[in-house]
Amino acid sequence: MFSQTFGCTTLGLNGVLITVEVDIANGLPALDIVGLPDTAVRESRERVRAAIKNSGFEFPSRRITINLAPADLKKDSSGLDLPIAIGILAASGQIVWDSCKNYLFVSELSLEGKLRGVSGILPMAIHCCEQGINNMVVAPENVQEALLVEGINVYAPLTLAQLVSHLQHAIILPAEVKNMITHLFPGNSEDFADVQGQVVAKRALEIAAAGGHNLMMIGPPGSGKTMLARRITSILPAMSPQEALEVTKIYSIADLLHNHAGLVTERPFRSPHHTISGAGMVGGGRIPRPGEVTLSHRGVLFLDELAEFPRMVLESLRQPVEDGQVTISRVNASFSYPAKFMLISAVNPCQCGFLTDSRQECTCSNSDIRRYRKRISGPLLDRMDINVHVPRLEYSEITNTMPTESSLVIAKRVAAARAIQYARLSKYNIFCNAHMGHKHIKSACHMTTGAQAILEQAFSKMNLSARGYDRILKVARTIADLAGAEQLTEMHIAEAVHFRNNMQEIY
Ligand SMILES: Nc1ncnc2c1ncn2[C@@H]1O[C@H](COP(=O)(O)OP(=O)(O)OP(=O)(O)O)[C@@H](O)[C@H]1O
Ligand SMILES: [Mg+2]
Repeated sequence: MFSQTFGCTTLGLNGVLITVEVDIANGLPALDIVGLPDTAVRESRERVRAAIKNSGFEFPSRRITINLAPADLKKDSSGLDLPIAIGILAASGQIVWDSCKNYLFVSELSLEGKLRGVSGILPMAIHCCEQGINNMVVAPENVQEALLVEGINVYAPLTLAQLVSHLQHAIILPAEVKNMITHLFPGNSEDFADVQGQVVAKRALEIAAAGGHNLMMIGPPGSGKTMLARRITSILPAMSPQEALEVTKIYSIADLLHNHAGLVTERPFRSPHHTISGAGMVGGGRIPRPGEVTLSHRGVLFLDELAEFPRMVLESLRQPVEDGQVTISRVNASFSYPAKFMLISAVNPCQCGFLTDSRQECTCSNSDIRRYRKRISGPLLDRMDINVHVPRLEYSEITNTMPTESSLVIAKRVAAARAIQYARLSKYNIFCNAHMGHKHIKSACHMTTGAQAILEQAFSKMNLSARGYDRILKVARTIADLAGAEQLTEMHIAEAVHFRNNMQEIY
């Protein structure tokens, strides 16, 4: 006797439909799973056997063969437990096969027969919809994630027995309804108003947030670099629905939605420790998982104490920073994860930290300084659009009681600038200036003749690379957007050049 049911797994950020074929034949009792099952799927044999028995059904004592198609794709999801169990029940005549034909089943099973949540439900639900399957069965903890996709009925029975009753029309499970929005990064209570002084650094962060540019802060210990960086999420604009869906998909695959399951609405802020491995940063591993660069997609990757990161890890950032994606190759597949993030970094100017300090003398020798700086390569520094010195605060600045600008006020200006960029660039599927390509820069950055003259001077004086030229124009475009100006003037270009040039003066 034969049956066919549908399950799903993920490859990169996309769902892949798995056809589960079950054949039950006469012979010695055995259960074989073919079609490249990995550990999690091979183990499902034991879970399914126990779940079927403990749900009050009969586990056929005959020769059972299960084929997972397509056969050339490695399957490693415990979410295939459910379609396998339903397939066995259908092939052994305990449920009518026809009743489960228009369903996608994705859930792990407990030995007792309860449905358990798995990761990657959102991309699977999207795929289910694309394949024209109308109904999806998931575990209760995955319901809200599946419901993010319009156009499919989602059912979430507690147990296998309940699902079988539903399929046989003995009970009717109601299709679930959407009710939740996820706040994965709990509302940031930290505010720029807490930061005394540092007017230039705040301006730099505002520009970076407005255009999605990379930024590096350099300064002595205790000047507020970490404090400033942690507040950037309080001024970033809200995500568009499309961006929110992209981010939720990534967190679904990485199994980081937990029980929140729903749409991630805040921009990610990731700050990995400097002991992170290369695979942790860009993604990979035997069963490939997204790395920090992908988890920061549409948000911020903050690297504190940049010079302490292993060189290999920093170099691995070069490609994703430039391309906005990482490609991971495995023997049997290769796929890309998106990685469009803002890189914010903080670093001391030398080992002791006081090289640029106005009061405390630096105790490093010249060779110490050279060695310290070699830890960050030129190509990585070339990718920093904005470099800003964060100096030691004066006593009068620390004790100043005048109110400083709050994050809310800055966020309004940032949102207005982003709205201008969205109107200009969304037709190319680009949401901020930092992601403009050369051709977009050409059409979006019209300069006055004075501005052109300044840029030409800067180009030869600063020995700019072609990348440097493009990046200055992008930052200048953001500065002009913040000012609501159509054309780039001397002032806009000069400020952008200043923020890039800072590097040569202080680092
Ligand atoms: N501009 C500031 N306004 C108010 N408080 C500040 C400011 N700068 C620093 N502080 C205080 O000093 C503490 C340390 O600052 P922070 O950790 O940001 O320094 P840092 O520049 O990152 O130093 P390091 O280079 O050692 O990492 C903050 O938690 C805050 O209490
Ligand atoms: Mg710090």
